Amino acid sequence: MLPLLETIEQMGGEARPKELYDLIANRLRVPEAVREEKIKIGKQTVNAFERHVRWARQTAIAKGLIETPRRGVWSLTNRGKHALGNAQPGLVITIFETDAGTALWAMAEDAAGTIADDSVDLLFTSPPYPVARGKAYGTWKSSEWLDWMSELAGGWKRILSPTGSLMVNLGTVWQPGQPTVDPYIERFVIKLVDDLGYHLADRLYWHNPSKMPSPMPWVVLKRVRVKQSIEPVLWFSKTPNPKADNRRVLTPYKDATVKRYLGKPITAAVRPSGYGFGAQSFAKDNGGSIPPSLIVASNSASNDSYRRTCREAGLPLHPATFPSALPEFAIKLTTEPGDLVYDPFLGSATTASAAEKLGRRWIGSERSLAYLAGASFRFSDARLTDVA
Ligand SMILES: C[S@@+](CC[C@H](N)C(=O)[O-])C[C@H]1O[C@@H](n2cnc3c(N)ncnc32)[C@H](O)[C@@H]1O
Repeated sequence: MLPLLETIEQMGGEARPKELYDLIANRLRVPEAVREEKIKIGKQTVNAFERHVRWARQTAIAKGLIETPRRGVWSLTNRGKHALGNAQPGLVITIFETDAGTALWAMAEDAAGTIADDSVDLLFTSPPYPVARGKAYGTWKSSEWLDWMSELAGGWKRILSPTGSLMVNLGTVWQPGQPTVDPYIERFVIKLVDDLGYHLADRLYWHNPSKMPSPMPWVVLKRVRVKQSIEPVLWFSKTPNPKADNRRVLTPYKDATVKRYLGKPITAAVRPSGYGFGAQSFAKDNGGSIPPSLIVASNSASNDSYRRTCREAGLPLHPATFPSALPEFAIKLTTEPGDLVYDPFLGSATTASAAEKLGRRWIGSERSLAYLAGASFRFSDARLTDVA
């Protein structure tokens, strides 16, 4: 129900179901194949996802959260608005703490104001994307998104330590109705570098092998595009030399590599590029291989236990959680134990939980109280504050 209530709120408090389906699917990052799935009910064929939304609406009506003031209009009741539990602009409230971190119920726009200058060693996050599918009504236009994110990124410069890193994971957004991509990611990079004075330290890439083929019309039906399963993680910094050490993210040598090279001299050679290697170049054991900038990660076991506990507590599952391997890689690469990691769009606290496991301190901010309640289950030492 929560995504339904959130989407009606986004549309100004009331909406027609036809306008809501795509927006809810986007909010939940529902794979296109699931969004389009049809089922047979008696003699009728209906869209399964839309039916699911209508069920959620029935439950919301029964609980007094939604009403139908006019035919074909779904509207939030006062109770519904309250149940949303969204942070109020200007208010920053600590919901739970652990020995290493603090989870704030706050808009990202306000939370940064409570964080000390030059204190954050890594800001790692995945913000909401500028979704433009369907009627685009009530959603971000990518130009508005760009202004909003640039203003936030400008504010984050103050809290980032001089050698700190800002890493932002963004996904592909398609132009409505055609198989072309909105270049908002490119615009974002240029804005941060040219206007805000950030350095682009690197681009990492996240490959999620278990992604469903999407977008459906171009990939599955017309077969003119390929599966979108790689997203960039843009790495910005205040100086050209942010703190980083790839020796903290080495991957174990493959058995074949160990057998063939380690401890053994090889024939020295000069490659066509002009660079060469000597007889002992591969003989030394450096503890592992230097990993590429492609991080391959799908769902993680920590997400499974998070989901199970949320279900048991009757809390909504966060629809777009990172696999923990993604923040883990970034945290190890750019921070040391005791450093501070901040995720302004905390969601289910995957970043914070990875930071805590790796002995880093953390701060997170999230606008949805329900997601924060579920996030607390990721920490065995979470202490709810009185206000929670
Ligand atoms: C893509 S999700 C982040 C998921 C997170 N990486 C995880 O692994 O669970 C984005 C989150 O930002 C929250 N959000 C959206 N706008 C916000 C704002 N202005 N301030 C704070 N949180 C916001 C949403 O409620 C959502 O939980």
